[in-house]
Amino acid sequence: MSDLFSKFDPLIEQREALLSTGLTDPFNLVMERVESPTVAICNGRRTILLGTYNYMGMTFDPDVIAAGKKALEEFGSGTTGSRVLNGTYATHKECEDALKDFYAMDHAMVFSTGYQANLGIISTIAGKEDYIVLDIDSHASIYDGCALGNAQIVPFRHNDIEALEKRLKRVPEGAGKLVVLEGVYSMLGDIAPLKEMVAVSKANGAMVLVDEAHSMGFIGEHGRGVAEAQGVIDDVDFIIGTFSKSVGTVGGFCVSNHPKFEILRLVCRPYVFTASLPPSVVATAATSIRKLMHGADKRAHLWQNSKKLHAGLKALGFTLGTEEPQSAIIAVIMPDLKTGAAMWEALLDEGLYVNLARPPATPAGMTLLRCSLCAEHSEGQVDEILAMFGAAGRATGCI
Ligand SMILES: Cc1ncc(COP(=O)(O)O)c(C=O)c1O
Repeated sequence: MSDLFSKFDPLIEQREALLSTGLTDPFNLVMERVESPTVAICNGRRTILLGTYNYMGMTFDPDVIAAGKKALEEFGSGTTGSRVLNGTYATHKECEDALKDFYAMDHAMVFSTGYQANLGIISTIAGKEDYIVLDIDSHASIYDGCALGNAQIVPFRHNDIEALEKRLKRVPEGAGKLVVLEGVYSMLGDIAPLKEMVAVSKANGAMVLVDEAHSMGFIGEHGRGVAEAQGVIDDVDFIIGTFSKSVGTVGGFCVSNHPKFEILRLVCRPYVFTASLPPSVVATAATSIRKLMHGADKRAHLWQNSKKLHAGLKALGFTLGTEEPQSAIIAVIMPDLKTGAAMWEALLDEGLYVNLARPPATPAGMTLLRCSLCAEHSEGQVDEILAMFGAAGRATGCI
């Protein structure tokens, strides 16, 4: 009998080698208590959270929590069914209405996760005969959506407008074309040139889907994302998003103005063949989304935090993923996994949690310490964070 697990041996060996040095497992951290969007107790000590996607700090918002409690009491703990059978409650409709209002779009469809939203929408609209032209650094859920639908995949170099145009021109005449882009790329925190890319896609007869997972709530005048900030939201056919980041709960969605959009509810397998989100979850999402519509002050503070952290890390001598801060994500580039893991642990010992990111999730085989800021981080906390980076960087020889 061949052992189907033997393909994992190189990864098992790499992991064992790393942990045999006595390092804390960076992929197994337990938060013993969570006190606020920015502070948790890890290994018994107060730890500042700089590696969550809680950009707008909505997880402890009193109105959000009250909405969840109320729905739990009024509707019970779960729906035990698919959206197309017994799994659509008033709360699901309220959540979709909140999304339609937030984006000023005609249609909104809620999925159980953002991963499933990409999986479902992409695989359903682009089939075997269709072409998906996508940025090579696209999220795993985008690639998995392409694979599930069996579409022809045509990747282009990250954020390269000319490369996108060239690929589009090579797609056979008359074939269905979908261009898939992200607003913010989550590994380096850089944004896409959507203005140019959407124009090129439309000029070449393609539909456009933009995943705004890491920009919703924060970027754009109304927090609708990079497409809004760059003035092209009306030309985007589908926006994908998640509740697991700025919204502060779990779930995914697609919004669109396509006149035939509603048919997707009957043909999209990752929507039909799975249970819907618990009513308490969609109630918290609906409340959070409606509050994010009035989040201008929080957005402004989050930009201040991002600028301060970026400038401070640069001044300390770290190499960052972007020249200027472009989003709430600031990636610190590490020379290799061993140094990255040592720096990650030194920061944790200082009382700071960041994400250690490594291939295959990262582009170009990079090891990153990914910092994601929150609108609830105070200026004082950003100062503390910079002091911890300085101490850990010196202790590990990174700076
Ligand atoms: C760009 C992008 N799309 C989709 C997702 C999936 O979102 P969710 O956590 O809701 O499954 C993520 C999550 O990391 C993401 O970064």
